Amino acid sequence: MTAKIIAIVNQKGGSGKTTTTMQLAGAIARRGNKVLVVDADPQGTATRWAASADDEIPFPASVVGLSAANAKVHREVKKFVDDYDFILIDCPPAADSPVPQSALLISDVALVPIIPSPLDMWAAVGIKQVIQNVADFNDTLQSRLVLNQCQPKTTLAQECLQVLPEFEIPLAKTQIQHRQVYRQSAVFGQTVHNLGNKATAAISEVENLADEVLEILGIATKKKKKKNS
Ligand SMILES: Nc1ncnc2c1ncn2[C@@H]1O[C@H](COP(=O)(O)OP(=O)(O)OP(=O)(O)O)[C@@H](O)[C@H]1O
Ligand SMILES: [Mg+2]
Repeated sequence: MTAKIIAIVNQKGGSGKTTTTMQLAGAIARRGNKVLVVDADPQGTATRWAASADDEIPFPASVVGLSAANAKVHREVKKFVDDYDFILIDCPPAADSPVPQSALLISDVALVPIIPSPLDMWAAVGIKQVIQNVADFNDTLQSRLVLNQCQPKTTLAQECLQVLPEFEIPLAKTQIQHRQVYRQSAVFGQTVHNLGNKATAAISEVENLADEVLEILGIATKKKKKKNS
């Protein structure tokens, strides 16, 4: 097997990189895939997340800390590609970190979680340049913005809609809303899937994101297709 690699990037702190990484990694692993999370952030949040799980119910994906590799993280990740179906790389914030660029060099998909507020979005637009620079070396990289922490029942503010095109990165169909269960699942070292009925809406968002990412990768999802389509 050769792992498909998904990098989760945004130099803006707190946009939801680790949350997206862990929920998506867990969802894909639950579908019977062997999944590795590369914690490329010296903050070690993904590592701590998985370490918070009960011994009886371990986090469904493995986690390895590779932040020390810095600009060479792509070389380190390559060592794992034959052993996993999917590798998700949780990148650190900070515009001057060489890690996102290195991770994107070997990635099939880049996900950029952003909070749809003008301040967050302005601070994140710089990721466009990083992705465009990498495109010279990795011309099959596909990128999506993923709106995170959306407020329920409100449409996107006009200011946000104006900033979105500046990214020149297509928007994922799936949006992640602001929900307490996303925070709670981190405390338990799990994904929202383990939180029962109160997490139904979140589970469906995460499953939709997993479907969408697999579709981008050209991997058929388990959902039944409509006849004649
Ligand atoms: N959809 C959501 N609903 C509610 N809380 C969320 C959601 N997404 C993220 N959070 C919370 O927002 C905070 C930041 O999220 P997270 O750690 O995933 O961001 P990050 O981009 O990885 O941050 P950093 O740049 O520091 O690595 C966390 O407390 C997380 O639990
Ligand atoms: Mg993080």
